Amino acid sequence: MKIIRTTAEMQAFSNAQREAQKHIAFVPTMGYFHDGHLELMRAGKRCADILVISIFVNPTQFSPNEDLQAYPRDFDRDCTLAQEVGVDVVFAPENDAMYPNGFQTFVAVEKLTQNLCGRYRPQHFRGVTTVCAKLFNIIKPHTVIFGKKDYQQLAAISRMLTDLNMDIELVGMPIVREANGLAMSSRNTYLNATERKSALALSHSLREARSFFLRGENNAQECIMLVRSIIDGYSHTAIDYIQICETKNFTDIATITQGSLLALAVKVGKTRLIDNYVFGEELNLP
Ligand code: PAJ
Repeated sequence: MKIIRTTAEMQAFSNAQREAQKHIAFVPTMGYFHDGHLELMRAGKRCADILVISIFVNPTQFSPNEDLQAYPRDFDRDCTLAQEVGVDVVFAPENDAMYPNGFQTFVAVEKLTQNLCGRYRPQHFRGVTTVCAKLFNIIKPHTVIFGKKDYQQLAAISRMLTDLNMDIELVGMPIVREANGLAMSSRNTYLNATERKSALALSHSLREARSFFLRGENNAQECIMLVRSIIDGYSHTAIDYIQICETKNFTDIATITQGSLLALAVKVGKTRLIDNYVFGEELNLP
């Protein structure tokens, strides 16, 4: 497995692979791998000749009051796990390589990023789409793979690919959960033992929302109230939002139908967790 640090070397590597007619799959990450990340890599391995991943904790998607400095990092462990999955290249640039002096160009998907997490993290998606556009230009993938845990991020990337005519296939992978239902996240490492129990509020409430819909109920406000009451029943939880919306534009809806999205962001202690459920889909929870 190669570790590449410079954009020039990465571009030269990808150019050579493309000339040799190799299909390149790419999984962007911020590292500190869990099985959610590894599932994306396994999917990449299946669909391509060459699998490139990136590890870069992207400063432009964190606001000043967020956890950029504290964000968990373990490069050596990540490389061991990536190698086990069969990753061919880890692209791990320094900040200066991605954002040299004078950097001033951003890519922003406008409407799709206004609601949900965009309301609470105003510059976040602009940072995500900018770094992904850069990574796509550096790695030149045929296929990119993202997780549905970050549902709005996946939608923003999809919109960017369409709007900017990027000739890249996008694959969205299901949420990977721990045995107890908690959606895997690098940020789960911030949780202490009590908070880990409280973090089950999210998946518990999704399960109850699913049952609500399966019973034939479809009033979105009632469902939101149910979800809120479940989450409020756990200690150390503070709800950022509970919303039920359309997946195509994230506008709120009054009536739940198959394919509507329930999206949650909840602080457990100081840690902000997100989770979601698309009504009518499977929900693999205990
Ligand atoms: P990061 O949080 O490291 O996530 C990298 C990828 O893993 C994203 O596509 C995310 O949706 C996916 N992922 C995380 N947890 C998952 C889970 N439990 N199940 C399935 N997929 C999961 O998302 C980012 O990094 C950054 O915003 C990035 C796209 C790299 C841009 O900086």
